[in-house]
Order: sequence, then structure tokens, then C-alpha cells
Amino acid sequence: MPIYPPEPFRIKVTEPIRLIPPAAREAALKEAGYNLFFIKAEDIFIDLLTDSGTGAMSQEQWSAVMRGDESYAGARSYHRLKNAVEDIFGFKYFVPTHQGRAAENILSACLIKAGQYVPSNMHFDTTDANIRARGGRPTNLVIDEAFDPDVLHPFKGNMDISKLIAFINKVGAANIPFGMVTVTNNAGGGQPVSMENLKTTAEVYHSNGIPFFIDAARYAENCFFIKEREHGYAQLPIKDIAHEMFALADGMTMSAKKDAIVNIGGLLCMNDEKVFEKVKNELILREGFPTYGGLAGRDLEAMAVGLYEGIDESYLSYRLGQTAYLSGCINEAGIPTIQPAGGHAVYLNAAAVLPHIPQSEFPGQALCVELFREGAIRGVEIGSVMFALPDPETGKIVYPKLELLRLAIPRRTYTQSHMDYVAETLKRIKDRAPSIYGYKFTYAPELLRHFTAKFQPL
Ligand SMILES: Cc1ncc(COP(=O)(O)O)c(C=O)c1O
Repeated sequence: MPIYPPEPFRIKVTEPIRLIPPAAREAALKEAGYNLFFIKAEDIFIDLLTDSGTGAMSQEQWSAVMRGDESYAGARSYHRLKNAVEDIFGFKYFVPTHQGRAAENILSACLIKAGQYVPSNMHFDTTDANIRARGGRPTNLVIDEAFDPDVLHPFKGNMDISKLIAFINKVGAANIPFGMVTVTNNAGGGQPVSMENLKTTAEVYHSNGIPFFIDAARYAENCFFIKEREHGYAQLPIKDIAHEMFALADGMTMSAKKDAIVNIGGLLCMNDEKVFEKVKNELILREGFPTYGGLAGRDLEAMAVGLYEGIDESYLSYRLGQTAYLSGCINEAGIPTIQPAGGHAVYLNAAAVLPHIPQSEFPGQALCVELFREGAIRGVEIGSVMFALPDPETGKIVYPKLELLRLAIPRRTYTQSHMDYVAETLKRIKDRAPSIYGYKFTYAPELLRHFTAKFQPL
């Protein structure tokens, strides 16, 4: 196993976590209907449910919080954020939003007409839902390698350029109000997109007169992958790589809860003045005045500082190293994960750990429950609970290709020994895997059922 960089910080404030005894875990599972979304957070020892808004803010961010200017309009904090956004992303116009999905909602409301298409490598589920909410049709055109968990492609989040060209020719550029790319590709395992691929994607969009928006939630992690893996970028500072990336686009949406390391916040940026006018009106209706956009002044301050901390190279090499370290330890314990490790999360192949549990009995959910039962660790199933749906024509259930358990790593929150604990817990589960059983639904809503479904062990 390679040696990864240690945490480039020391710990000044602590939040206690406690490992509740096995009987209490069993009772909590039963009460939650074996759905970890219903477990009290204080009963979780290591919480790897999401990396969104769960990171630790720095001393500089907490100091900035105290400088928050809560004026309704034109606050000092807005101008501080504006300087950072202009400096890092370089778009002409921007508005803050309360989180990423609010930026997506406003962009979709302003640009999409019913029946139009929005292509991307892969839309995140809130982007997908916001496009659909305006009558649009989100379309995913990522390269095929993204669907093979074992293929070692350095940029598995890349857009498939021939699929994109064929798609534009098929539906017609006039039916595409804007095109997107998600960096890194969360829905595809946190895999990066290369600069070369972004350049070609931008060329294809622009030669067809289609504006190009980047979903920039994890842009800094993507820039670091470019620096490490793409020829010609090793010597460039992350900010220069980010400039090159965003100069290709006409705008971006961003959940600042990821690479700006804040607990709440988002951004919507663009170069087109007419779009900006529409965006401001929509923002006032849904979020707030354009200089605060649904956030408090203190949130704007924390974001302004966090944007710079998110592109710090010692932070990024530790961050991506921690994910690779956890992935490596889990592989050493004999459990396959999506290769190579992504930026923010490790995706375990639950079907390989529990080959005796059929997809209809939710192997990913079974592994998720065992992880809590064995070590009070929380991950999330990404498999049949989330995606298996009846075919509208035949009524037969269509199962997803992969049954995964996602462990997302909050930023600057857990140490290497926490990661070791997760891997050791998984090793114990692997050793007793044949005795683990599947689950059936006792309740499942029609949409987004993983959040509220209840289960019964078989
Ligand atoms: C790639 C991507 N885009 C958009 C979003 C939505 O952001 P938010 O949760 O801040 O609304 C997320 C959140 O996980 C994401 O991962």
C-alpha cells in the first residue's frame, strides 16, 4: 500500500462520537425498519452517508463567520464572496444560492422549455429531477468504461464524444437549451473528467450553438486528478487548471457543500447578461435578494474562505489520498470496490461480498445494515433499493447493473484510524458473509424510495 500524505491540520475542536453496544444497535435497526436514514445520528459511530455539508470548517472559516455582514442588500460579505468567485471561476455574473439544487432549479426555470433535452456525462439526481420538473429530458452520455467497475481508466467520468455528436444530430441543437458536464462524476463513482475531454465537449456544444454549463460541485478534486493524471498539468497550480476549465464554459452550478467545504451554500455563475437578468428575478422569487441568495452573511463569508481552502494542494493531496487509502484497505480485506478510487467516496461491490443474495433481496442494503450492526458505521445503498423499477410496458422489474454500497468521506472530519476501523469492520463482515441474509420491503414509496422505505429481514 502506498504511503499517503497525513492530515495537513491538527485538531483544535472535537465532537464526541460513541460506539453504542451491539444490543442497542440491533434495537436501533429494528426501530428504523432496517433503513439507516431513520437511525439517530448520535447512534452512528462513523457517518459516511454523504460528503455533502458534513465537512469540518477551519479556524479561518469560523473567524470569517464572526465577520458576517447581515445587511439585506449589498453586504460586505457578498462582496468578499464575489471577489473569490471572480478570482477562481472567472465568470462575468454570479448569484449565491442556498445549495446546489437551488442553482439547478433556477437555471432550469430560466432556460428549459417542456420537451427539450439537456445532455451531460451523467446528471446528479437533483439535476435530473430539476430538469424533469420543467418538462425537460435529462440525458446521460458518459463513456462505457464508467459502467465497468474493474476497468482502470484515468478519466472514467469523460463524456462519450461520439454519443454526444450523434445525440445532438438526432434531437437537433434547437431542442437543447444548454449542455452540461458533472466534475467529478458523482453518479458514476466520483470519477474525474479530463481537460482534453472538457475541451472537445465544449467545442461540440459551441459549434452547435449550445451553451455549456459545468456542475462544479467537486471541481477542485477534478482539477487535482487532472494535475496528477493528465499530461502537461503536473506543474500547474490548481487555480490555473480551474481557470482553464471554466474558461471553456458559459456558466456553472455548484453545491458549495462539497469543494467549498461549507455546511450550506451554492453558486450559479454565467457569462450571458440576459440569462443573468432572468436568473436574478427567479432568485428573488425563490431564494432571496441577489446579494444573499438564501444564505446568511456569515455563510457567504465561510464560503469565500472555503473556496480557497478547497484548492489548497496539500489539502487536496491528503483528501484524495484518504479516499485511495480507504479503498486500498477495503481491497486488502478481500472486498472489491469500483476502480480506480474516486474523489469523495469508495463504492463497494456488494454483489461480490454477498453473492448468495439475489438482487430481488437487496444485497447492497444487506451490506449497509451489516456495517451498522458490526461497527455502527453508516453508508448508503446504491443498487436495487434505489433503482430497480418495473418496466412500464411489461411490468417486469428491471434491475441495475451494479449492487453497490457507497462510503462517502466527509472533508477534514475523520482520521486514518477511523478509516482503519471501517476496513477492519468490513473484514469481519466478509468473514461471516455466508450467514448474512437479504431483505424485503414492508413499505416503499413510488419515487426516491431509499430515503423512506422500510424493510424486513428474510
Ligand atoms: C454532482 C452534484 N451536483 C449537485 C448536487 C446537489 O447539491 P445540493 O445537495 O447542495 O443541493 C450534488 C449533491 O450531492 C452533487 O453531488
